[in-house]
Amino acid sequence: MLKIGRGAAAPPFLVMDVIAAANARQASLPAGAPGVIRMEVGQPGTGAPAGAVAAVQEALRSGDALGYTEAFGRASLRARIAAHYRDWYGLDVPQAHIAVTVGASGAFPLAFLAAFDPGDRIALTAPFYPPYVNILTALGMTPVILEAGPDTRFQPSVAMLERLDPPPDGLIVASPCNPAGTMLHPEELAAIAAWCDRAGVRLISDEIYHGLNYESPIATAAAFSSHAVVVNSFSKYFSMTGWRIGWLKLPEDLLRPVERLAQNLFISAPYISQVAAEAAFDCHAELAANVARYRRSRDHLLAALPRAGFDRLSPAEGAFYLFADVAERTNDSVAFCARMLAEAGIAATPGVDFDHARGNRFLRFSYCGKEADMEDACARLARWR
Ligand SMILES: Cc1ncc(COP(=O)(O)O)c(C=O)c1O
Repeated sequence: MLKIGRGAAAPPFLVMDVIAAANARQASLPAGAPGVIRMEVGQPGTGAPAGAVAAVQEALRSGDALGYTEAFGRASLRARIAAHYRDWYGLDVPQAHIAVTVGASGAFPLAFLAAFDPGDRIALTAPFYPPYVNILTALGMTPVILEAGPDTRFQPSVAMLERLDPPPDGLIVASPCNPAGTMLHPEELAAIAAWCDRAGVRLISDEIYHGLNYESPIATAAAFSSHAVVVNSFSKYFSMTGWRIGWLKLPEDLLRPVERLAQNLFISAPYISQVAAEAAFDCHAELAANVARYRRSRDHLLAALPRAGFDRLSPAEGAFYLFADVAERTNDSVAFCARMLAEAGIAATPGVDFDHARGNRFLRFSYCGKEADMEDACARLARWR
């Protein structure tokens, strides 16, 4: 029997299984029957902004070579991303500190491998985005789970970090976060970044949902610590999931290590996606209209879901998720979601993927689908109750 590596034991990303179940349910419905409403996916229903698509068409027409780019991406895109920090956060970021990556997903192994060693302890709160834990585990690193609840809006606090003895080697934060849709407010992120610097803990800040914030202003960890690694992506606000393009804002000491890793692991992000991403920065009007739609869906769900029996919802500050505590209705969120899919035709994600200890009493609704679907979903759930 040949050996299979430890990395192969990475658990599945269960939401993908939920997507498959929703697809199967949809395929089994008779013609004309109301379809499954998809609230399990974290994928904007909108496509890439028109300006991004037009730039790609132009690049293809003009016979652009579409070869490899430098490992950190096209200079013009890196400059545009650096300018984005000035436009959104009033922050001067040198273009040399921007690395274009294959989505945020491609940024994680680069950041983790450059910053940490096998055996290192990396703290993060539960509920969490599952691949953080699964990638760390595959790389032989140890996730240290901090259980967070409604009292800290499912986010970490300095008090929680101070209780860690010894301090961890790293900390991952996400704001707005998946699955709770909650945020670290600027002063909270500043305090956490300062604690990390004092304690010698490398901060990794996943800022993929920036731009999708409805109440509190956003802040980037790059503003508070020159040691922080910032991860971002064109998948959510920019509505370009399938283009697989993201970026890192790196601290000085990780520039060359990450570049060497990127050269070896990916060579470069896809050229054509880099063209699209650069053009997407000129599409803010279209993207703002998407955000306005999410906001209306969010407001509708916050008003209507409690009437359908989902009245313990996380504060919906950002991203496009609502995390519902369903402990009064079930202690098995996987079975509950399966029943909701079969009986009400609503696909949602059971919390077990996001929180191994408490996820059996939570589920996540995503509201990035069509606005009319979100309204229909509330009506169906009220009838199903
Ligand atoms: C918190 C978070 N980080 C990263 C990702 C991965 O994004 P990308 O499409 O850029 O790989 C997701 C995708 O849903 C996410 O929710």
